[in-house]
Amino acid sequence: MPLAGKKVLLGVCGSIAAYKSALIIRLLVKNGADVKVIMTVSAHDFTTPLTLATLSKHPVLTNFSKDETGQWNNHVELALWADVMIIAPASANTLAKMANGLCDNLLLATYLSARCPVLFAPAMDLDMWQHPATQRNLKSLAAFGNKLIEPTHGELASGLIGTGRMAEPGQIVETIENLFKPGKLTGKKALVTAGPTYEALDPVRFIGNHSTGKMGYALAEELLLQGADVTLVSGPTHLTAPVGVTVVKVTSAEEMFHASQQHFSHADITIFSAAVADYRPAHKADQKIKKGNTPMHIELVKTYDIAAELGNQKKPGQVTVGFALETENETINAQAKLKSKNFDLIVLNSLNDTGAGFGYDTNKISIISASASKEFNLKSKKEVAADIVTAIIEYIHA
Ligand SMILES: Cc1cc2nc3c(=O)[nH]c(=O)nc-3n(C[C@H](O)[C@H](O)[C@H](O)COP(=O)(O)O)c2cc1C
Repeated sequence: MPLAGKKVLLGVCGSIAAYKSALIIRLLVKNGADVKVIMTVSAHDFTTPLTLATLSKHPVLTNFSKDETGQWNNHVELALWADVMIIAPASANTLAKMANGLCDNLLLATYLSARCPVLFAPAMDLDMWQHPATQRNLKSLAAFGNKLIEPTHGELASGLIGTGRMAEPGQIVETIENLFKPGKLTGKKALVTAGPTYEALDPVRFIGNHSTGKMGYALAEELLLQGADVTLVSGPTHLTAPVGVTVVKVTSAEEMFHASQQHFSHADITIFSAAVADYRPAHKADQKIKKGNTPMHIELVKTYDIAAELGNQKKPGQVTVGFALETENETINAQAKLKSKNFDLIVLNSLNDTGAGFGYDTNKISIISASASKEFNLKSKKEVAADIVTAIIEYIHA
């Protein structure tokens, strides 16, 4: 049974296609999955909770509160329970709310709390599907890493012919099954460094940089999706790593170096995406430095060049990938870095490109190897991470 032991959370919205949710549940259960269902209030007009509860063998949930006793359906627990969340049918209304972070029902609160992969299978009339608002919402959902199961072309419930029919239950269940098939990196160990480093001046001050860590966290998630066993050595960030990634939290370049070195020799793939400080204060004051009337000079010393140190310890079969953030002579500088740090691939992002670099949710990259260079369009960091991991897989198989 391809889904044996897998926990699937199914969201059902108000659409004529809601009758197909019963078939989705039937197939999921037949293939071994444990299925829980959340219906929107509107979905009750299209199919009955009794049908879906009987097929899923669990009570169907719709509201936050269970009854007048104060008991409630815990959306966070539900979200964390699931190995995968699928919203099918996904109405135009719910898609718009998901894309904008709205949270006014149990399904949306659970969606916002989900750490597992989220898939959605829209169903709607052709004009609703083509509307620029729906298309814009789909782009936002893709940028969040949610997976669209495309609607198909055909006769719609309105009698019109066009794109908007929900994918068939068999195809939806197959897409879910594919998620759990071994990835292209199953059996490989991956190490990713991410975020900034903070170099302490005294107990309350540090020298740091604006890196948010978003690129490294997106890479860790993508490697995990491809089946790799991922360790993320992260500088200070506000991000939460996906469930399944081993996170090692560090603060300074020195800590990041030691943590990375510990994992490097076992790693088949290492991606150095952290923005590591090049210099640190030579001395860290034990007490807070007092304000004086004379100019203050801070002596800086070089930190470990983590990528170069580890890149040069590389053994045959290990793949290392670095990042270059350049402001001039971008390609030449990136190629020089590829060589000096013994990288297999280098990801170049230029501060000259709008939307690329620190703080943005997007990035525009080129991936450079010793023999080739490929330029990509401006994309969300999640999509960029997928491009980088695809390039690594191609490099390994070349
Ligand atoms: C008969 C009928 C069929 C509908 N079919 C769809 C549909 O297929 N897709 C859709 O997005 N909305 C459809 N709607 C509109 C939704 O039911 C409506 O937007 C509702 O508020 C969706 O709520 P929900 O997103 O909370 O489930 C339909 C409405 C009616 C009355």
